[in-house]
Amino acid sequence: MIDLRSDTVTRPTESMRAAMARAEVGDDVYGEDPTVLALEERVAGLFGHEAALFTPTGSMANVLAVRSLVGPGQEVLCEARAHIARAELGAHAAYTGLTMRTWISPRGQVELETIQQLFAPDMGPFFVPTVAISVENTHNFAGGAVLPLADLQDLHAYAASVGTKVHMDGARIWNAHVATGVPLTAYGEVADVMAVCLSKGLGAPIGSLMVGSADAIDEARVWRKRMGGGMRQVGVLAAAGLHALDHHVDRLADDHAHARLLAEACGVDPESVDTNIVAIPHDDPPAFIAAAREEGVLVGAVGPSVVRMVTHLDVSREDAERAAKVFASL
Ligand SMILES: Cc1ncc(COP(=O)(O)O)c(C=O)c1O
Repeated sequence: MIDLRSDTVTRPTESMRAAMARAEVGDDVYGEDPTVLALEERVAGLFGHEAALFTPTGSMANVLAVRSLVGPGQEVLCEARAHIARAELGAHAAYTGLTMRTWISPRGQVELETIQQLFAPDMGPFFVPTVAISVENTHNFAGGAVLPLADLQDLHAYAASVGTKVHMDGARIWNAHVATGVPLTAYGEVADVMAVCLSKGLGAPIGSLMVGSADAIDEARVWRKRMGGGMRQVGVLAAAGLHALDHHVDRLADDHAHARLLAEACGVDPESVDTNIVAIPHDDPPAFIAAAREEGVLVGAVGPSVVRMVTHLDVSREDAERAAKVFASL
């Protein structure tokens, strides 16, 4: 089977497993796991932020990051198909007690004029105040679309001008960086707080980080424990992340090329595919998914009329070419 359902399906490589086996560990709740500390320091530095916090999942990193900005009864604005709005099962409402309002953009982009119209200043006991704006880069359900740096810079400047903050769900920020050449620090500059994942295109079996100020991370460390996310000798997992950062970032360019190959086979303009996700409108996703499975290719659906294919570390050029043939025949 060629598994194109998600870039989360990768299995750790032999050399990643060896790095995990070698990892020095300690009790991370005591702050004594040297490998976790090294990963946190490295990732914070990559984005030019003060500190970072290792979490088991991207969802937890997002919940901690957003709650560092937004309290109960306050709101965060985000695009309608943002992962925080659609796919974290209401965690932000359930844990933080915040509300969300959304703008709609076909490619998940920053729509500054709409955001300005949605923005609600704190007017006392009348309206829910907007205290954060969240962006997703790359945007998963918008087909891995990259958000242009200039738009993010404008958004950040606007947010600062009205006293609000920016959260970036950077689960696939590495893909945006490789696709555009924009330095990770430049993405870090336009976000007050971020969540980034090691367990997507980078191929680690688990692991994400919240990135932000030292104060925000100190507070998030308490909340992570409160939510049951205090972990012990997890240097073995952090080692997988460090290995991924060393070996699996530049190769994302291959995933992007493979995704364009798949798009072309489906009659989609390859130029419209920014990174490793191809989202294709389809009348009957279940039928397409079943037919592809018959031919040895697994794909997924995101919504009632969109088929999604995601390339990753475990999809070789030959796999992509074979899958492309299957899609063309279907
Ligand atoms: C954009 C985005 N953010 C956050 C997440 C959450 O990551 P996790 O599955 O590790 O909770 C995902 C998962 O696919 C994602 O695509």
